[in-house]
Amino acid sequence: MTANTASPLSNEAIVAALSAIVGPQACLSQAPDLQPFVTDYRGLYVGQAAAVVLPNSTEQVSQVMAWCHAHGVVVVPQGGNTSLMGGAVPEPQGQAVVLNLRRMNQVLAVDTVNDTLTLQAGVTLNAARKAAEDAGRLFPLRIGSEGSCQIGGNISTNAGGTAVLRYGNMRDLVLGVEAVLPDGRIYSGLRGLRKDNTGYDLKQLFIGSEGTLGIVTAAVLKLMPQPTASSVALAAVASPAAAVALLGEAKKTAGQAVTAFELISGPALDLVLGYLGKVKSPFEARHDWMVLIELTSGASAEGLDQTLMQVLESGLESGLVLDATLAQSGADAQTFWRIREEISDAQTRTGGSIKCDVSVPLSRIAAFIEEATAAVLALEPQTRMIVYGHMGDGNVHFNPLRPADRPAKDYLGAFYEPISRQVDSLAHAAGGSISAEHGVGVAKRDDLSHYKSEVELALMWQIKKALDPQGLLNPGKVLPAPVAAQA
Ligand code: MLT
Ligand code: ZN
Repeated sequence: MTANTASPLSNEAIVAALSAIVGPQACLSQAPDLQPFVTDYRGLYVGQAAAVVLPNSTEQVSQVMAWCHAHGVVVVPQGGNTSLMGGAVPEPQGQAVVLNLRRMNQVLAVDTVNDTLTLQAGVTLNAARKAAEDAGRLFPLRIGSEGSCQIGGNISTNAGGTAVLRYGNMRDLVLGVEAVLPDGRIYSGLRGLRKDNTGYDLKQLFIGSEGTLGIVTAAVLKLMPQPTASSVALAAVASPAAAVALLGEAKKTAGQAVTAFELISGPALDLVLGYLGKVKSPFEARHDWMVLIELTSGASAEGLDQTLMQVLESGLESGLVLDATLAQSGADAQTFWRIREEISDAQTRTGGSIKCDVSVPLSRIAAFIEEATAAVLALEPQTRMIVYGHMGDGNVHFNPLRPADRPAKDYLGAFYEPISRQVDSLAHAAGGSISAEHGVGVAKRDDLSHYKSEVELALMWQIKKALDPQGLLNPGKVLPAPVAAQA
């Protein structure tokens, strides 16, 4: 099945028909207006579109989809356009319609009896967290782009982030979904039940499928009790293996309170401190490996600090920890988190890195980091290894930084290909995944054919064809092309 990227209609005809549905102000067609919607977050993928539509209701989304389905027009759903995998922009050629959900930004209900939050897909993650907080609850998804990413995008990419260790990823936080199907029909699954065993769990089709099966228009999310206290520390550790052992100790001592356990390599810290300028390292010496540990709970802050101190002191005694600093105030904790969260932007500003977003079983993580580092340095001896991520849940962002003497245009070519293949195959060999939380998009699409079994790929295509037989919804994403040709 090949994607149908050119309809027999002119761009003007597409724009006229869609303007009649969403209104002329909400149907953009001039090149400068289209530009931010067809260019991905990192400026690596630039697509082509006949129009961008900004519907304000599920009914409008449904009408746009029905019209595009009837006329063979490709639709690319888009939220905050923060994908790191090129998943939310159209292909380089064609007459796609980008359907951006930002005007559908209403919180519909906060229910503190059932502990649910019902909202439209275009609500930003920040606004969702704020709505929960205003009601005395927590919506726990936490990612760097939370000011601009949207709940619909978080759902369709099954977003992860820094609190997955405690609360799970987006799939664990979604109770119900409303989605518009490629032919315009509306799947109405906006239910907040914790138990519902009535056959196939259809909402799962729309979670993590990156807008290839339907467009998420609204959702019911789980709310959690708000933690009343937190304790944050940065610790220098002897090695990644020591970090894994320290995580085990933290879980043994603090149990469920361990909310985040983030790894930061020495080069990652150097890079982010250089980028942030005024922020200083909390350590006197330079260290090769550090971890940021956060405990949260309903207990008192003093109690949590004591527990975290206990973990760090026993780590110092056993030699797992080389140095440690406990945040003494909310401002300290914010600085520690800022150091961690700005690593991503620091890379972008330095010229870009290869985003290898892998997960491996915790028991294999240290060996994986060692092998992958050796493999990359054998290929590119000058590469700085920006290694960090959500170690607590096995997710390593293994991001070789583009050496200064390599032209930026090499990013997706000569530099990218061999390195990402090596790192991915080592992660796969360690029983891991080549995309832990960033999704597949276009960046990892063809790689899937090396790492998924024939049965898995065939099932993925069968599902795609069942829901989108014309291949009009977000074509060129997720499903590897060679299998498409055979199918
Ligand atoms: C992060 O955890 O900072 C992001 O997922 C990683 C990235 O931007 O590469
Ligand atoms: Zn991450």
